[in-house]
Amino acid sequence: MAKKPSAPDPQDNRPRLMNDPLAWIDAAPVAASAAAEPAATARPTRTVARATGTKNRTEPMTKPTEIPAAWDGMHTFQVLDFLSNPMMVADHDMVIRYVNEAAFRMFERIEGGIRQDLPHFTARDVVGKNIDVFHKNPSYQRHLMHGMTTPHDGQFSVGGAHLAFRATPKNNADGSLGCIFVEWRDRTAEVEATDELASMVKAVDDMARAHVEGEIDVRIDPTKFRPVLRDTLSMVNSMVEEHIKTKKKVVACVTAMAQGNLDAPMEQFNRKRVFLNDAIELIRGSLKTFDDEIKRLLGDMKQMTAAHTAGDIDHFIDTTAYSANYAEVISGVNAMVEEHIATKRKALACMMEFAKGNFDAPLERFPRKKAFINEAMDAIRDNFRSLVRDVGMMAQDLAEGVLDHQVDSTAHQGEFRKLIDTIDRIRSNFGNVTSEIERLSRSIVAGKLDVDTAPESFKGAYRQLIEAFDQAFASLNGAFRLLGQQAQQVSITVEQMSQSSQSLATNSQIQSSSVDEISSSAEQTDIQVKSNAAAATTASQLVTGASEVAEGGKIKINEMVTAMEGIRASSQDIA
Ligand code: HEM
Repeated sequence: MAKKPSAPDPQDNRPRLMNDPLAWIDAAPVAASAAAEPAATARPTRTVARATGTKNRTEPMTKPTEIPAAWDGMHTFQVLDFLSNPMMVADHDMVIRYVNEAAFRMFERIEGGIRQDLPHFTARDVVGKNIDVFHKNPSYQRHLMHGMTTPHDGQFSVGGAHLAFRATPKNNADGSLGCIFVEWRDRTAEVEATDELASMVKAVDDMARAHVEGEIDVRIDPTKFRPVLRDTLSMVNSMVEEHIKTKKKVVACVTAMAQGNLDAPMEQFNRKRVFLNDAIELIRGSLKTFDDEIKRLLGDMKQMTAAHTAGDIDHFIDTTAYSANYAEVISGVNAMVEEHIATKRKALACMMEFAKGNFDAPLERFPRKKAFINEAMDAIRDNFRSLVRDVGMMAQDLAEGVLDHQVDSTAHQGEFRKLIDTIDRIRSNFGNVTSEIERLSRSIVAGKLDVDTAPESFKGAYRQLIEAFDQAFASLNGAFRLLGQQAQQVSITVEQMSQSSQSLATNSQIQSSSVDEISSSAEQTDIQVKSNAAAATTASQLVTGASEVAEGGKIKINEMVTAMEGIRASSQDIA
């Protein structure tokens, strides 16, 4: 077993304990038996050739066994114990012959880790061991070492430790391998630091990317790192946090201003962050200017709205008091209002023409969304035309006595349809009246004076007309009745007159013959004759009167017939 030597004191000039484990380098080649010793059983007991002599010994090679009398200084290899770089020396058989103190300490430090892979590994026990016992596939290492003339740099990880080494061969004069010097370097801290740095870079990188993508609540987890980095990363987190806080304060202020509170307070930032205050105040100033102008604009807009509502449609906003941009906007609004009014005027001018009966009045075609005005005006124009056309046709029918031509009012709507229906009702009523008049007239012509009239079926003047007919019938019937009575009276009178004439004639004959017979009373007779002559004259007048009455009755009847014929003819004309 190798034992841990105590480190020599460089100031100590006393004769040194010689430990010349590599005396075999200068000595004769090691015996084949030693070279052939199985690695597993190789122990650090060797026949050691000392630089100061050739005495063979069998004891641990790293353990000082004696103090050389002839040598007052340390052996070269002892110097290596003072170095901080771990070193090993293996012989040509790859048996480890020397391990400096730094190497012992390095392997001791990682001994626990190495045992995970090599359970029996003991750092202080490697001297005398063949390196094959440490390698999974020794032939690989042997192949690398074989015929080596230049240093080989290698590295490996074992038990969580990361080791690097440089193996430098020292060859014999005949070119055969004399020994190999191995300089070790524990890279564990370096590798861990590199790994940790890489994970730190990745953590910062991940956070930066997340923030770029908007995930501004992402932070680095410092607990995954060693304290020194943990503090740094916590500070990075704090810095990010602080930036976000600052941003939130700025945004809160801007938001409040955007919501109308232009006096929203803003914390005064320090040093290089003052630019944020400057920017905020710039925004605040601009917003206040805008606010003033907007308030003025709103007031002017209200005024214009009120004026237009009140009918003053020539009221526009005066742009002279506004800044250029606002003036441009207001000019646009004014122009828009003006344009709307102009459009309205054009449409109304066309309407006025319609009102005058000019349905051919032109109206310009308005573009896009304003086309609805043309559609409405065209509809008005078409409806008026259609109404006027239908009313005209109906009026003409009435004027021409065409009373059986019914017009379809469903082509019209609302008041227009009512108008058509009303005219059609006039036509219908007029037709009914004329039909009735015709019927009554024909009855009169046919001498049927006993027909029934129904004035109650008619209204107003129509009713009066039928009632007039009714009265005419009554009057005619009365006239004919009176006529009959008069005719009968005339007939009786004529009869009486005839009888009177006959009687008179008889009396005249009697009296004439009596003249001859009665001569004695001539005067009386003369008086009687005169009296008879007067009676005859009276009778003659009565006959003449009766005859005139009869003639008059005949004329009256003829006149009435003519009148009736006229009425009938008129009725036919109306029909
Ligand atoms: C004079 C001493 C030694 C020499 C010359 C030597 C040589 C080598 C060489 C050349 C490699 C291959 C590295 C490469 O691919 O570049 C290697 C790997 C390795 N060595 Fe050594 N070695 C020595 C001592 C040790 C000791 C004391 C240990 C004990 C922990 C050890 C453990 C390993 C391990 C674990 C590997 C990785 C490959 C494997 O397990 O086989 N070596 N060595």
